Amino acid sequence: MRALVLPAYGPASTLTVGTLPDPTAGPGEIALRMAGASINPIDWKQMSGAAARWIPLELPAVLGRDVSGTVVAVGSGVKELVVGARVMGRVRGGAFAEIAVGPAAGFVAAPAGLDLADAAALPLVLLTGAQLAEEAIDARAGESVLVTGATGNVGRVAVFAAKGRGAKVWAGVREKYVAAARELGVAGVVILDDAAAVAALPELDAIADTVGGETGGRLVAKLKVGGRYGGVVGVPAAAEAAAKEKRIAAKSILTHDDGKRLAALAQAVADGALAIPIARRFPLAEGAAAMDFAQKGAEGKVLLLGL
Ligand SMILES: NC(=O)c1ccc[n+]([C@@H]2O[C@H](COP(=O)([O-])OP(=O)(O)OC[C@H]3O[C@@H](n4cnc5c(N)ncnc54)[C@H](OP(=O)(O)O)[C@@H]3O)[C@@H](O)[C@H]2O)c1
Repeated sequence: MRALVLPAYGPASTLTVGTLPDPTAGPGEIALRMAGASINPIDWKQMSGAAARWIPLELPAVLGRDVSGTVVAVGSGVKELVVGARVMGRVRGGAFAEIAVGPAAGFVAAPAGLDLADAAALPLVLLTGAQLAEEAIDARAGESVLVTGATGNVGRVAVFAAKGRGAKVWAGVREKYVAAARELGVAGVVILDDAAAVAALPELDAIADTVGGETGGRLVAKLKVGGRYGGVVGVPAAAEAAAKEKRIAAKSILTHDDGKRLAALAQAVADGALAIPIARRFPLAEGAAAMDFAQKGAEGKVLLLGL
């Protein structure tokens, strides 16, 4: 099969298209012919070596976590998915190739109303945004919740999920995204590097943070005593400190499989209730350009299309 190969840690220009043996589905796994694969920040963190300490790669490697396509083989023990099924899901690397293999538990049927390739935009961001709002901060009806990076791919799902719980949601964004944030139907929009605007926010019950670092840490001062902080890029030091002083419950999450929730959220996308914009689609052969485009801040998902 043809695949986008990372021979050594480096910038996007390091990626080359090569030919590798077809991977095979082991017990509990499926193999699929890739229709689409989407790029996530974790892919360029792995590509550059920035993530190598906690997720070392065996090089040369094929990156990619999100994939959609048609099942071509199932491993022993797989009952729910059959050859020929149109599926979308998460793999632990290897999505940027003609054939991808991953645990069947990470896959669900792609909604009938969605283009199969475009469905690859969804699995990781749908699950992460929902798990941030529903598990990390456990957003509740009537609560004031701030979602940071709200127009980002994970952020917009966290907004949707927190609103679905009946929370009053504030979208925290950079100034250039204010208009896009208003379209999320939120209670308010706040520019995160505008100290006066942040100070004017009401006291918050919870923060769903997709940005982290100093920006995420500064916001913790807005949480009420006993409030909740949830993050997807760790817990900032300031949140750790506030956790003790103000009895803040601070949690960082790693996305886990949840087929039922993934299917429901993907249906919400197919129905038009939740928008995950696609910034651009590239053929797999132009994967290096696609990765460069995504890494520079694409404002939406970047897709690779099967050959
Ligand atoms: N823990 C997990 O299991 C898990 C799973 C999935 C994703 N993640 C992480 O979650 C993060 C978000 O992923 P994503 O797919 O949503 O990325 P994304 O689509 O690029 O969204 C991130 C958003 O946050 C904005 N942003 C970044 N720094 C900001 C700041 N200081 N102030 C205001 N806005 C800021 C970005 O704006 P600009 O583009 O203008 O910078 C962008 O709109 C990534 O770091 C990713 O690695 C973690």
